[in-house]
Order: sequence, then structure tokens, then C-alpha cells
Amino acid sequence: MEGKVNKRHLDEEADGGLPLKRSRPETVDNLSSHNASNHGTETKHDQDLYGDQADTPGLMSSRKRKSCFIDLDSEDFRAAKKICVKVPNGPTWRTPLAKLRDIFWKILTQFKELFHCEGSFTSLYQVGRKLGDGGFGVVYKGTRKKDGRIVALKYIRKEGYQKFLKFPGTSVTLPSEVAMHLLVSRPPISEHVVELLEWFDQPDKLILVMDYPAPCVDVLGYMENARRPLTENMARSIMKQVLQACQDLRECGVLHRDIKAENLLWQTDTRKVKLIDFGCADFLHDEPYTDFAGTPLFCPPEWIYDRKYDGRKANIWSIGVLLYNLVTFLLPFQTVDEITNKHTLSFRSGISKECKELICWCLRRNAEERPTLEEMLQGDWLSKGKQEYQSVLDVFPGEKWLLCYPS
Ligand SMILES: Nc1ncnc2c1ncn2[C@@H]1O[C@H](COP(=O)(O)OP(=O)(O)O)[C@@H](O)[C@H]1O
Ligand SMILES: [Mg+2]
Repeated sequence: MEGKVNKRHLDEEADGGLPLKRSRPETVDNLSSHNASNHGTETKHDQDLYGDQADTPGLMSSRKRKSCFIDLDSEDFRAAKKICVKVPNGPTWRTPLAKLRDIFWKILTQFKELFHCEGSFTSLYQVGRKLGDGGFGVVYKGTRKKDGRIVALKYIRKEGYQKFLKFPGTSVTLPSEVAMHLLVSRPPISEHVVELLEWFDQPDKLILVMDYPAPCVDVLGYMENARRPLTENMARSIMKQVLQACQDLRECGVLHRDIKAENLLWQTDTRKVKLIDFGCADFLHDEPYTDFAGTPLFCPPEWIYDRKYDGRKANIWSIGVLLYNLVTFLLPFQTVDEITNKHTLSFRSGISKECKELICWCLRRNAEERPTLEEMLQGDWLSKGKQEYQSVLDVFPGEKWLLCYPS
């Protein structure tokens, strides 16, 4: 467990349970194969897309972005690792002094949440079958030994990990995914965000222990298995929750930057949608962002033109790409040229005028003309249309693939 980590090593740690029906390739390949399956095109436009841009800092796949991270043995990381706070049990006595101790204890508790766990990971968790993978890591099902709680364990290779952020209110610098996920996991946690329960620092990898909202499927997986786009009513139900998640993240001062179907978990019993994967997230700020992190085909045109973008406006662009993806099972743009040029969006027949208008509004090339989250929510398509209340299981009764996601 503490040894060298490569893919084989990670696989060996799994318990050899049910194989995943779908093993997702890296972000970019995933998008290209996704489109290829829909358009019958080869991955050629990956070259079109990345040929010129690949060497440009910023416009990279999640995988490429990861691979240019600095060594995790940096001073920053060592500093973050050093600080481990042991928190005593809560006070039981009630005197003025106890109040002081109360306050002190609360502060310590908050601090403790920032730091990776002490103790051996293997003595605390049992690793199960693979749940999924992406550009950043591999996610396994796990069981917390002390109480049998089922969790999701994300293994992130340290090799090439580069981005660190100072956690607000402290002098601690943490790996950015940990910092951002911790920030949104502080109570009151959004019902549309998967909680980070704790994290471990191992010689070659980070392990993030997350809530596993089973039974669930990620939305791209759902569409791939259904082999068709979502109905507008289903898409509406998902989009409302995604927008709510974005509002909640905004409250926490976080910008996700990689909102897409595979980063949305859909609970098959409650139909709740939860956002995962804070690998590209950053603090939300008003100043323009000068780095791009996320999935290239979700990248807004202003980044390609100006190498900078307004975080909120870029977020709306990616939401437009997501909505198009949900109702068509395609991506609106296949290449950088299509993102920047006057490429006209085409829609399959049967999509309502309101839905098309909303997508086109989000995908305005002039960022200033895009709606805000609130304007989207108040618009006709989201505020007036029906939502799909049928369970995912009802929609595809007896689908075997759902067995890949047992509770
Ligand atoms: N908390 C979770 N519960 C269940 N499945 C998860 C969870 N987190 C991730 N997954 C699955 O693993 C896949 C990859 O996880 P993700 O965090 O997006 O990794 P990456 O950063 O590599 O894209 C997701 O698309 C999803 O299918
Ligand atoms: Mg992901």
C-alpha cells in the first residue's frame, strides 16, 4: 500500500469484485470517443484540437494539466504534511472556563478537518471494486472498518501533481483538489455536492475518502448505457440541481471549472444529483483567470482568444455545453475552431424552442451576453417546464448495468 503506485499496483489493491461495466479513458479521449461514437469520426480532431494548442499552457486535458504539476515533495507540501493536530474529546463541564475551552476545542476541530488523517489507511479501510476513473485518478468502492460505512476512495498519483492552494484562514498549503473539496465539505454542506470525509497522504499517492451516494451512476454513464440523450424533463431536473450546486459552491468561494456529465453522480433512488471531482477547482474571484483547467471541449472562446476569462461567465459556457450534451448526447463543438468561429449549433428534432434558446444564450461568444445562474433558473425552460420525477430505475427497468452500482 505504501509502495510505488502505478495503475497495476492500484488494480491489485482492489478486491477483484464485480468489474466495472465501463472503464472510462482519460478526459480528452473520452470526449473524442464519445463523439466518435456519435458521429462516426475518428479521434483525428484531437489532433486538430490539440495540435497547435497542446504546447500552450492552459488548454490541456485534465491529464495533461496534471502531468505538469510540480513534485509533491515540495516545501509547500512538506509544510502541509507537518501540521497534524490531535483533537481531544469535547468538554463535558460547564463553567466560564469551560466556555473558553469550548471555543478552543471548536477551533481545533476545524483545524483538524484540514489535515490529512493519521494512522494507517489499510487499518481503517478495506478497498473494494473500481467505481470509475478519469484524468486524475482511480476511484474504488471502500468500506470503513470501524462502522461498515460504504465510501468512495479516490487515488491520485502524486507524480506530476503541481497545484497547491493555501487553505483560507490558515497558513496551510494543501494539494488543490484536497483544499477545494474540503472547503465545500464544511457544514452546512450542499445537498448537491459529494462530501470529502477525510484524506490520506501516502508516499506516492493521495487517497481521498468520499461519501458514496449509492445507488448511483454518473450521468455520462447513464446516457452511454441508455445509448440515447436524456428527455428534456430529465435534463431539466439535472440542470436545476447543477445550478443549485453552482450557487452553493459560490457561497463557499469555489469555482468547479470541470462541470460535465461524468462529474455528476445521479442517485437512482432519490434522483438527487451530486457534483464530484474538484481536481480543476479554484477559488472563485472577480479578477480574470489566466489559467485554464478543465476539459478542452468545454473551454470558452475568450480563453482561446485572450488567454483569460471571467470565472462565472466561463462556468455558464460550460453549463451550456453540458445542457447541449444532455439533450443531444453530442458535444456542441468538436474543435477549437468550432468554439471560436461562427459555428452554428445544430439540434436534433424534437428539442423545444425554450431549451434551444437557453443553450444558445449560455453559448454566446460574447461572455457579457451570457445569463447568470439566477437568470437561467428564472427562464422559461427551467422555471415552467416539467421535471422528470420518475426514478432512473423506472425509466430503464431491469437494466443489468445498474447492478454495477449496488447500494
Ligand atoms: N464519490 C463517488 N461515488 C461514486 N462514484 C464516484 C465517486 N467519485 C467518483 N466516482 C466515479 O469515478 C469517476 C472518476 O472520478 P473523478 O473524481 O471524476 O476522477 P477524475 O478526477 O480522474 O476525473 C467518476 O466519473 C465516477 O464515475
Ligand atoms: Mg472527473
